[in-house]
Amino acid sequence: MILQGNRGGRFMTKIITLGGLWALIIYTAIQFRSVRIDVPMPHMNSRLLLQKRQDTLTRHDSTTESNDLEPSVDKRESPSEEKLILDIQDRLPNLPIVYWNQHKNLPMGMNNTCARFPSIFDLQFNNNYWQTVETSNGTFHLFGAYLDKRKNNRLGPTVRILGMIDRIEPTVITHCQFWFDGKKEPVITKSFEYKYVWYKKWGNYKQGIFQPYLIACVIPQGYNAKVPQSVSLVEKPCNNSTTNLRVIYNKPKDEKKKDFAVCVKVR
Ligand SMILES: *[C@@H]1O[C@H](CO)[C@@H](O)[C@H](O)[C@H]1NC(C)=O
Ligand SMILES: *[C@@H]1O[C@H](CO)[C@@H](O)[C@H](O)[C@H]1NC(C)=O
Ligand SMILES: *[C@@H]1O[C@H](CO)[C@@H](O)[C@H](O)[C@H]1NC(C)=O
Ligand SMILES: *[C@@H]1O[C@H](CO)[C@@H](O)[C@H](O)[C@H]1NC(C)=O
Repeated sequence: MILQGNRGGRFMTKIITLGGLWALIIYTAIQFRSVRIDVPMPHMNSRLLLQKRQDTLTRHDSTTESNDLEPSVDKRESPSEEKLILDIQDRLPNLPIVYWNQHKNLPMGMNNTCARFPSIFDLQFNNNYWQTVETSNGTFHLFGAYLDKRKNNRLGPTVRILGMIDRIEPTVITHCQFWFDGKKEPVITKSFEYKYVWYKKWGNYKQGIFQPYLIACVIPQGYNAKVPQSVSLVEKPCNNSTTNLRVIYNKPKDEKKKDFAVCVKVR
């Protein structure tokens, strides 16, 4: 239809405006109704989801709708640091965890440039059990350190380090740095011997293949009444060590020797 003249135009404008207004009212009403219907739906959904989530056979992992849930917080008292340290010490018997923790804020070592007490980050591990020292002639993997205070030990109180060296008849000279309780500086001595704890005829007797040894660190006079807390093996006396083994001393309570056996893996 073609509009004619001014009057007709205004009339049509009114009709269109009213129509538009009406459409707007209807549209708004529908929107409003649908909103009111929709609002409770998410809650219903979340309830359903929550119910399903308790059912262990079906997993519905929702990350958005748990606002109305009490979060599951572990309300047990957290273990004290002391207990935590003892717990770690139990699991890592070869590391002086307790001693470390006691001295973590004290500068330890001969001086700034000599024989510094290694932090746990300075240690070289081959794996959980073996700490590694590289020397100018051979690599050492150390497993554990044990205080030998037996009466028949002619060396006197000695720390024996169980380890492997990739040399037969090692000739490299190494030093033991003993760390004592309440002493900032290490006590340093030359290691006394590398005792081969294998028989040649069992095989593997070849240069370059790891061989088992007990390395003897004799505790010097003046300190041999004490139990060192840990020991580091180094090549030169002043070297900053890459190893730190807790000295294990489990003295039997009744002083009675018990029978024991040693298992070896031959191949
Ligand atoms: C650190 O101690 C070593 C060994 O006792 C010594 O030779 C060196 O001169 C000392 N260095 C300093 C800076 O005191
Ligand atoms: C390295 O050690 C082996 C035996 O462990 C020895 O035969 C050799 O002479 C040593 N080399 C040096 C350069 O000292
Ligand atoms: C050990 O100390 C000597 C000098 O005393 C040095 O030449 C050598 O590099 C040091 N070794 C390590 C592993 O730091
Ligand atoms: C030990 O470490 C200190 C600091 O990193 C360094 O100055 C010193 O030269 C090291 N000592 C040796 C013998 O390598």
